Amino acid sequence: KRKEKRMGDEAKVLVFSFPIQGHINPLLQFSKRLISKNVTVTFLTTSSTHNNIIRRAIAGGATALPLSFVPLDDGFEEGHPSTDSSPEYFEKFQENVSRSLSQLISSMEPKPNAVVYDSCTPWVLNVCREHPGVAAASFFTQCSTVNAIYVHSLRGAFKEFQDDVVLPAMPPLKGSDLPVFLYDNNLCRPLFELLCSQFENVDHIDFFLVNSFDELEVEVLEWMKKQWPVKNIGPMIPSMYLDKRLAGDKDYGLSLFSAQNECLDWLDSKPHGSVIYVSFGSIAVLKVAQMIEVAAGLKQTGHNFLWVVRETETKKLPSNYIEELGEKGLIVKWSPQLQVLAHKSIGCFMTHCGWNSTLEALSLGVALIGMPAYSDQPTNAKFIEDVWKVGVRVKADKDGFVTKEEIVRCVGEVMEEMSEKGKEIRKNALRLMEYAKEALSEGGNSDKNIDEFVAKIAK
Ligand code: UDX
Repeated sequence: KRKEKRMGDEAKVLVFSFPIQGHINPLLQFSKRLISKNVTVTFLTTSSTHNNIIRRAIAGGATALPLSFVPLDDGFEEGHPSTDSSPEYFEKFQENVSRSLSQLISSMEPKPNAVVYDSCTPWVLNVCREHPGVAAASFFTQCSTVNAIYVHSLRGAFKEFQDDVVLPAMPPLKGSDLPVFLYDNNLCRPLFELLCSQFENVDHIDFFLVNSFDELEVEVLEWMKKQWPVKNIGPMIPSMYLDKRLAGDKDYGLSLFSAQNECLDWLDSKPHGSVIYVSFGSIAVLKVAQMIEVAAGLKQTGHNFLWVVRETETKKLPSNYIEELGEKGLIVKWSPQLQVLAHKSIGCFMTHCGWNSTLEALSLGVALIGMPAYSDQPTNAKFIEDVWKVGVRVKADKDGFVTKEEIVRCVGEVMEEMSEKGKEIRKNALRLMEYAKEALSEGGNSDKNIDEFVAKIAK
């Protein structure tokens, strides 16, 4: 009996992520969605992170992932920090990865149908073009609002460091709502250039994929679609937190950090909705004075809190702080964030508003306190507070410093059961959570866009 041909059968895709956690997570999740539609996926790591990534994956129980990992030679020693943002790093990375990727494609028979690559590595398009028939799909790990702001900036719609910015399809923005690189002159130039480079060849790519969902950015999406055939495929978080159609898919499965799962037992011991979860993602670095202030602020709220302080940040904590907290607070070096956000004892999430953390909270209906650090985060925080109304944003002084009183005020607004603002925030969070789930359920907008992608590349 002839086997029935299914969507995606025989399609082969290479997926390449910039080797940082906030980009690996959504690209790996997209890989799993493709696999669920019968596409064969090879996830490309880089030589300097390969063994590290694989080791962690095994430790995290991710060996069951139905994909293969192939390292591309990036020209750096194993263990070289992937957060290096020197121009030399980016240059050598591009040169070596381009060559290595091209060699890999040449060695494959049949050729892959497409390469899905991190929008921060736009030069992968050139590699695809060396191999006719291999489609180029750029995957944007930030939201369309942020993408649109960069596009406007590159087109000269406003000046860098301008304070009041009015753009189509968006509320009026203050300078401090813009992606940091467009407002703060002191920031790392090579990183700024890397982010701008995402748009340098978008007129020529075959697919423009964004980790967002339609209902979140209706007007901006419409504006973006007038420029390019933008398709939302998100939120790219594990299926068990959304549509539950991917059996056993409950974490990303590839972590550069080791999570301290024992914090889940601690959460079990706390009352419903009583804990503030605090995390500033995988990269953000707080100044010592700010760290001390956050520590004091959290303590002063009187609420329980679980705070992720990465290994490299721990030395900034006040001395004896952990001992003094007692049962009220727990500090871990890395958490199983999705399980934490889904835990019934969590009352709100104080976050740097990294796009993955934001999407995770939106998908799980968790109220937010935004304390943005850099890059796209201020814009995400602006939308969290004023557009989606699923949280509040801390007010920083002119030097970017946030006082403990301000932290206490924000926590009060969100955690206070009876406050009107708190009620509205929780209502909106639940509404968006439904949209997030719908997007990836059968026939949802993101699900349809993934089907369309698979159908087109498999032709
Ligand atoms: C960065 C940028 O900040 C983000 O805005 C960009 O779009 C992607 O890259 P990062 O700063 O690390 O990422 O933040 P975020 O996007 O929130 O990603 C962090 C990821 O690590 C999330 O998926 C989160 O669940 C996970 N995480 C974080 C943990 O699993 N445990 C932790 O303790 C902290």
